[in-house]
Amino acid sequence: MLVLGVESSCDETGVALYDSAHGLLAHALYSQIAMHNAYGGVVPELASRDHIRRVLPLTREVLAGSDRTLSDIDGIAYTEGPGLAGALLVGAGMARALAYALAIPAVGVHHLEGHMLSPLISDTPPQFPFVALLVSGGHTQLMLVSGVGCYTLLGETLDDAAGEAFDKTAQLLGLGYPGGPALSALAATGDSGRFSLPRPMLNSGDFDFSFSGLKTAVLTLVRKVGLGEAADIAAAFQSAAVEVLVKKSLAACAHSGATRLVVAGGVGANAHLRERLTRDAAARGIDVFYPRLEFCTDNGAMIAYAGAQRLVSRLKLPSAQPDLTFAVKPRWELATLDAA
Ligand code: KG4
Ligand code: ZN
Repeated sequence: MLVLGVESSCDETGVALYDSAHGLLAHALYSQIAMHNAYGGVVPELASRDHIRRVLPLTREVLAGSDRTLSDIDGIAYTEGPGLAGALLVGAGMARALAYALAIPAVGVHHLEGHMLSPLISDTPPQFPFVALLVSGGHTQLMLVSGVGCYTLLGETLDDAAGEAFDKTAQLLGLGYPGGPALSALAATGDSGRFSLPRPMLNSGDFDFSFSGLKTAVLTLVRKVGLGEAADIAAAFQSAAVEVLVKKSLAACAHSGATRLVVAGGVGANAHLRERLTRDAAARGIDVFYPRLEFCTDNGAMIAYAGAQRLVSRLKLPSAQPDLTFAVKPRWELATLDAA
């Protein structure tokens, strides 16, 4: 089954073609980062308008790149939520209209399910069950995953998401948007032992996180020592955030008896997190699976993949008939999904 995937929940337009028999055929991405950079964050209205400009050229690009035409597509998957309402509507409107015109099914995908299943787009995917550490710009969650759509929330952040903490700390240090990659590059040149920052909720005995206190501690430190020490501050922040993420993830594996851990979302691209997690997990006999680096941040491939899992099983149901009614879900809890 050939599935077209469309991602438009935030500031990246992603389109991909996934074949349930042959794997990922093509994917294309347009990032709006340069456009939003001038404002220090995503401007929702500008994001929606740019998705409109990009989504059809990207679709033509993936079709041409994989030598396929519209008539070869068997189903369309699009991000239904969570995300920016206007941005989501662009992808949903395009996907639903195209599916209707082609008389094929369309399916709305949960953005975080896309992230969480992205390590499965691989020749050696992890088997179920596994624990998933979801670390994106908007979410930080630990989930027990026993199948597609079978998600049990183990813990989550009580305030800022991990990516948000990287972004806000980067802003305090005078780095651009999004701050994660810039902060991580600066941290690599700093001494993480020079300043000591708190490890919030490290020993709370549960799988929840809190990052807003860490951000405040950075603010206090910057006020005290100034930006001349930015590299050492960045390294201290990264080391504190990563230590909490690593310890809680491994504790969640021990608690649930899982021997596989999947890391997904933008912060999963962080080199220090990957290095520490792989090292500490190996010492406990846990295998860690990451998405391809380009699939850590938002992309169409993860939506095409997750949609394909759902379309393949849902095709047997009468409710998969194409129609023109659709809605988006700017807020949507991952743990409420049904099994595929
Ligand atoms: O998953 P994603 O693309 O978007 C959401 O669904 O939120 O994640 C974006 C987040 C941003 O906060 C960005 O700063 C962070 O991921 N990020 C990183 C790195 N690359 C992206 N954070 C730390 N280190 C990185 N290398
Ligand atoms: Zn995302």
